[in-house]
Amino acid sequence: RRRALVVVAAGSGTRLGLGMPKAAVPVTDRTVLEHALDAVSGVLQLDLVVLVLPREPHAKQQLAATSAVVADRCGVEVLTIPGGEARTESVSSGVRAVQQHAQRKSWSGPVQVLVHDAARALTPTEVFHRVLEALDAGAQCVVPALPVTDTIKRVDASAQVAQTLPRKQLRAVQTPQGFTLKLLERAFSHIDKLPEEEAADLTDEAMMVENLGEKVAVVEGHPHALKITTSLDLLTVRALIAETEG
Ligand code: C5P
Repeated sequence: RRRALVVVAAGSGTRLGLGMPKAAVPVTDRTVLEHALDAVSGVLQLDLVVLVLPREPHAKQQLAATSAVVADRCGVEVLTIPGGEARTESVSSGVRAVQQHAQRKSWSGPVQVLVHDAARALTPTEVFHRVLEALDAGAQCVVPALPVTDTIKRVDASAQVAQTLPRKQLRAVQTPQGFTLKLLERAFSHIDKLPEEEAADLTDEAMMVENLGEKVAVVEGHPHALKITTSLDLLTVRALIAETEG
């Protein structure tokens, strides 16, 4: 079997409000993407890494230079491609790049694809390995997840609580999410048939697999795999780095 990793790093970073794409934001003296790629270089037996980068020229150039360094460090082929308007489009482009590479290189046998958010910059390598182990054990789709600590309620359009979900059953899902390439291809061809507003509501790729009625396995995530979305997340990540380095 072959293994490809798609790292989506094309988000605008609007919610961080720093006026630059999120992957280019400095966490320390290094960017979100550079931190994210640290874990990647420890992942075993990858055949290909696809980095999906912002279209904004300055960030693109800066981040493409980063990727060359990763390629050197982990000895894996790294392709960089431009992202799309929505996350799903960025992932879809990444998966297409994997398919094209597999054809060019005449890969035979099963292909496993990991889809990872660059914004989860401190995801430990062990989480990648848990997902890969579950794929090796026969799962077709795997997500890392953690129990939630807040009580989660569904709220209706008039700001009234419609339902309280039982917390014990809930998990907060992270990345990398793992798939067989075959299943991911089926999932994307399913999305192409969805109405645009439904497709826009897909916040991860496992959701597409659920829509197909296929099983999604869950493995343990990690608190350090939090997604940098707001300035509070950035503070947390900086504190975690200071703690491990200090
Ligand atoms: O926006 P959100 O926080 O859900 O983004 C999760 C990941 O998807 C981030 O790593 C971001 O860079 C990526 N993304 C992307 N292309 C987009 C939107 C988000 O690659 N158009």
